[in-house]
Amino acid sequence: MNGMDIIAKLKQVNLTGRGGASFPTYLKWQSVKDANGSKTYIICNGSEGELNVYKDKHILENYTEEVLNGIKIALETFHNAQAIIYLNKKYYPKLNQKLKKLAGKLPITIYRKTGEYIAGEETTLLEAIENKPHEPRIKPPYPAQKGLYGYPTLVNNVETFYFVSKIAKGQYKGEKFYSIAGDVKHPGTYLFPETATIKEIINRTHNWPKHGLFMKSDNFFVQAGGGATGEILLPKELGVPIKGVGSIIIYDRKKTDLYKLMETWADFFVKGNCDKCVPCREGSYRILEMIKHKKIDKEKLEELYFALEQTSFCPLGKSIPTAFRSLIKKLDI
Ligand SMILES: Cc1cc2nc3c(=O)[nH]c(=O)nc-3n(C[C@H](O)[C@H](O)[C@H](O)COP(=O)(O)O)c2cc1C
Ligand code: SF4
Repeated sequence: MNGMDIIAKLKQVNLTGRGGASFPTYLKWQSVKDANGSKTYIICNGSEGELNVYKDKHILENYTEEVLNGIKIALETFHNAQAIIYLNKKYYPKLNQKLKKLAGKLPITIYRKTGEYIAGEETTLLEAIENKPHEPRIKPPYPAQKGLYGYPTLVNNVETFYFVSKIAKGQYKGEKFYSIAGDVKHPGTYLFPETATIKEIINRTHNWPKHGLFMKSDNFFVQAGGGATGEILLPKELGVPIKGVGSIIIYDRKKTDLYKLMETWADFFVKGNCDKCVPCREGSYRILEMIKHKKIDKEKLEELYFALEQTSFCPLGKSIPTAFRSLIKKLDI
């Protein structure tokens, strides 16, 4: 298959990236092609740093060859290309040898992720691989134009490469992987249509209360679409598909200490940000302090949310308020 074939196919099925931003994959591939560099880098983002999300781990462990085939197609599509699998440090010991063996003579190296949550962001990971401080770059230029060591660089998520392979084989059915975690009987990673609602997914995996779970249907809540950055949804709000990362975390309302849960998120953001800009560094810390002391000042929180959303340098800071705002509002704290 030549390069134009696969890009046309990606466009035809309208595959969108599975790393969070849902960016059309064909556009990214076309930009890298158009950049026409003397060398091209391909990065498979397997850093999976979100809290309670394990879909890329599942895909890498169970469909290793499919992911590698997606990377191989990218290697064949772009000029003088070299690939790097950027791997979550916890996944590395189990997967490194297997990936190396299956990659064979292909120009693919495995890089063990260093750093925290922010190191999964596409420009920060370029800095990390270049051995520089783990901070995001200003965009534009985008990695597709000027990425690793200044060369055009394709950064796609593990799941995206899996589906590139399926599309090339004519086996794509508009599906997506969903990671289900939390207070459920059947946690795991499942494949369902992209259009499936959260309610359907919970039902079809036998994780809804009517299937004999310990919770009454109005006695739980859900965090959907990206670990700690996901919005809190009540059972009556679950008739919608998931945007972004296919992550569903279910919480038993009676069992869950809401302050502890928020403290986990705040701690995750304090440790996972890069400290480069004030709103995110200070904002995440102030939220953590407020929650630790169980002194929620809603007016102050609104100011912090505003500063985070309007003035953070990168999407990490901008995404911090979502979970806190929705939980505090919907669960009457
Ligand atoms: C704070 C932060 C963390 C991220 N972590 C990941 C990650 O663990 N894995 C991933 O594929 N993308 C992650 N992303 C998204 C990447 O920046 C990038 O958009 C993605 O790898 C592109 O792949 P896709 O087009 O296939 O979705 C993260 C973004 C941000 C802002
Ligand atoms: S918003 Fe600022 S401090 Fe937070 S991760 Fe991004 S660059 Fe770093």
